[in-house]
Amino acid sequence: MLKINATQKIRVFSGIQPSGKVHIGNYLGAMRRWVAEQQQKENYFCIVDMHAITVPQDPSQLKRLTRDLAAVYLAVGLDPRVCTIFVQSQVPAHAECCWILNCVTPVGWLERMTQYKVKSREGESVNAGLLVYPVLQAADILLYDADEVPVGEDQSQHVELARDIAQRFNHLYGETFKVPKLVLPAVGARIKALNDPTRKMSKSEAHLRGHAIGLVDDPDEIRYVVRRSVTDTGREITFSKQEDKAGVNNLLEIYELLTGKSQEQIEAHFAGKGYAALKEEVAEVIIAALEPVRQRYQELMDDPHELDRLLALGAERARGVADPKMAEIKRKVGFVPLSKH
Ligand code: TYM
Repeated sequence: MLKINATQKIRVFSGIQPSGKVHIGNYLGAMRRWVAEQQQKENYFCIVDMHAITVPQDPSQLKRLTRDLAAVYLAVGLDPRVCTIFVQSQVPAHAECCWILNCVTPVGWLERMTQYKVKSREGESVNAGLLVYPVLQAADILLYDADEVPVGEDQSQHVELARDIAQRFNHLYGETFKVPKLVLPAVGARIKALNDPTRKMSKSEAHLRGHAIGLVDDPDEIRYVVRRSVTDTGREITFSKQEDKAGVNNLLEIYELLTGKSQEQIEAHFAGKGYAALKEEVAEVIIAALEPVRQRYQELMDDPHELDRLLALGAERARGVADPKMAEIKRKVGFVPLSKH
């Protein structure tokens, strides 16, 4: 039988790559729930820098984006007293566990991953890290015996794979890993790009003006991007699953999530108004929601030592869970433990 963790709280694990501007899609799809539920749960939120080097990258940029993401985690309201916030590469068990899981994962499972197929099509040469990317993600989750993994829709396939890998390892070596549950938001699981509502808002394109709204963008930039967002030639402001209404629907979803109003109330509110009015209101709602985030982020970025100190504390707490789990995993596969002399 697996041990029940001491606090009896549901254990949550999730992460974000420090690979570009963090945007409202990341917030509405994942972080919002992390913040809302942090007091009831036992939380592990990782900055997955080892995932970020699976594509060509710039080391000085990675360093900056890692601290930046740490500041964003705190600025959106994650409380380091109840959340273990840490950098993946500062907890070596993630890489170690990934290796062992690589050895129980059929390559065919990895070649079927949509993200791998898309990214390997885009890149000139594909490195092995990109293929085993989801195994590292499985290691992240399984090392902590996480009960829940709250993510946006684009990560569903990776979390399903983590479940498959856990089951396969348990089958081969005996009950070791908890099989985690995928948790998706009912609304906001896939926020669309503002310049192309047929595609998801994506960190890798967030530097292109008009694509995304960054969590620390200033009000003028937010107004500019929302005003220029792609809609359609109609006039109806209603929630719709129709493809040609995806732009308006996306703006309405953002509005719904940030105001907490019901869809009926929102449709009634916008009845008879035009798209320009919708965009103005959506922009103002976003600006109001992000203002405290931007302020707190700036304060945090003024004190990088404090940020590094919090990350060191987080890594220490994470190691407190990951290291004993790693010892158990090594024992299960038959590695001889280091003798204490
Ligand atoms: P990443 O960094 O691409 O995204 C971070 C989180 O934001 C969600 N997300 C979105 N949600 C709604 N609409 C969007 N347009 C949108 N874009 C992104 C993602 O689903 C994710 O929840 N491989 C992961 C990071 C990772 C991880 C983990 C996650 C590594 N290890 C372990 C969970 C558990 C990734 O690249 O997410």
